Amino acid sequence: LDHDEVEVVKKTWNEVKNKETEILAAIFKEHPDIQNKFPMFAGKSLDQLKSSQPFSLHATRIVSFITQYISLLGHDETQPAVKTILNEMGQNHRNRGVTKQQLEEFGSSLMKFMKEHSSWNDKAEHAWHDAMDKMYFVIFSSL
Ligand code: HEM
Repeated sequence: LDHDEVEVVKKTWNEVKNKETEILAAIFKEHPDIQNKFPMFAGKSLDQLKSSQPFSLHATRIVSFITQYISLLGHDETQPAVKTILNEMGQNHRNRGVTKQQLEEFGSSLMKFMKEHSSWNDKAEHAWHDAMDKMYFVIFSSL
């Protein structure tokens, strides 16, 4: 990602990153199979879950993870450390039986959410595509 791409990813992420529960709810709504991989959320009504503490805690964990990844984009010196956290995430999720397809679904729901809640344009779309590809390239190698 070049400098401009990194900037547009950071700018648009800053516009949505405080909507943690809305983001996770949008993903679960489109993909109940993802919700059902969570023993504590499986089969529960999304409307009730949304206002629960475990749900917001988990939404915050995921969003913070992505925030961390994004904050290190463009810092070449940190890339070995970034690879390490992404590989760990891949291993943890492999152990939980999460599939590549579910991660792709997660990614497309996240993009759709960004499109609807940030100052999105073709440049942002392209930059996000690259940023997600780069993240998943490492995660998938451990999944
Ligand atoms: C934790 C499932 C995608 C980041 C977890 C947990 C489950 C899970 C079951 C453990 C929850 C607990 O018992 O506390 C899934 C499924 C996904 C998915 C089914 C389908 C796409 C993602 C993505 C990210 C992410 C895309 C970030 C980019 C995390 C983090 C944790 C976590 C940071 C907490 C640390 C850990 O226990 O590994 N996930 N996850 N997850 N997930 Fe995911």
